[in-house]
Amino acid sequence: MLGHKEKKAKKNEAAVDETQVQNNDSYLGDPDNIIECDGLVKIYKTDEVEVMALQGLELNIKRGDLIAIIGKSGSGKSTLLNMIGGLERPSAGKMYADGKDLFAMSDKELVEYRRHTVGFVWQKNSRNLLPYMTAVENVQVPMFFDKTNKSDKEKRAIELLTMVGLEDKINSYPAQMSGGEQQRVAIAIALANNPKILLADEPTGAVDSKTSNMIQDLFRKLNEELGITIIIVTHDISLANKVGRVVMISDGKISTEKIMKEDYRNKINELSSESFAAEDSHEEYSVLDKAHRVQINEDMLASAGIDTNKVKVKVVDGQIIITKE
Ligand SMILES: Nc1ncnc2c1ncn2[C@@H]1O[C@H](COP(=O)(O)OP(=O)(O)O)[C@@H](O)[C@H]1O
Ligand SMILES: [Mg+2]
Repeated sequence: MLGHKEKKAKKNEAAVDETQVQNNDSYLGDPDNIIECDGLVKIYKTDEVEVMALQGLELNIKRGDLIAIIGKSGSGKSTLLNMIGGLERPSAGKMYADGKDLFAMSDKELVEYRRHTVGFVWQKNSRNLLPYMTAVENVQVPMFFDKTNKSDKEKRAIELLTMVGLEDKINSYPAQMSGGEQQRVAIAIALANNPKILLADEPTGAVDSKTSNMIQDLFRKLNEELGITIIIVTHDISLANKVGRVVMISDGKISTEKIMKEDYRNKINELSSESFAAEDSHEEYSVLDKAHRVQINEDMLASAGIDTNKVKVKVVDGQIIITKE
């Protein structure tokens, strides 16, 4: 079987002049992936300072995945999410979203993309909700340009609020709701236009751990019931407990990845959130970049007694061993 990259190369061979006619219909990647990031670089220039927020990031996300991207503050999470949301352009690199070259889109296509392909749950609740509107009115805001009539919009808004468990809050104003309830309205708003991808930036940043668990469960339910791809970025490692795939971003690159163990996946519905321990639930992998580089964290280096910048790498019995001498 050909790998993804080889498939790309083969297709390139077959259509030598493809680049000249490349438009949004000539997709060369893997159709199973809803997102493909290839060598994403983002440099912010402010006065004399340059910040490299993304440093050649590679990441593929499968259709229908629920994925958490975890990293410290300043590691590039929001930059990446805004790029996937079509709000930010890279300094270099490519991204395919739902089979389309995102950075080759015209402004008009980009507006369509933002309106129909992605839904955003913002970090700041004030960015999600309008304070002078009730929950059911807030959810109808993104439907403004739709041709459906008023009562259909309202019906859909009520359905969405019911889906997120807020059927008894439809006429409440944001100030009359708890932080967790406001977050759930924000999720209903993000779903209003039936997007293929739900993007959430620190969705549990401002709520307590019980509410955070409830929101995690809601994301899982929406992912299962609607089949929608959900991408959550957060610095909160506990948010990843019930997520099948967790990737770690550090210094603008994906460093390690955790995949939920199969036996956990099977019993996840029977377990309460509190009984989850990330160490038992996920298997951790280090991610090789395109040049086969791998990051070794400081704890590992320290426990192996490696304190120099040169190491010996050798293969012993089919295993790669890294030592100081
Ligand atoms: N608009 C901007 N102008 C200048 N620097 C920025 C801007 N946005 C983000 N940065 C910088 O880029 C880096 C990554 O930021 P960000 O993606 O917001 O990280 P995270 O969401 O992981 O906290 C940080 O060093 C941040 O200060
Ligand atoms: Mg951020």
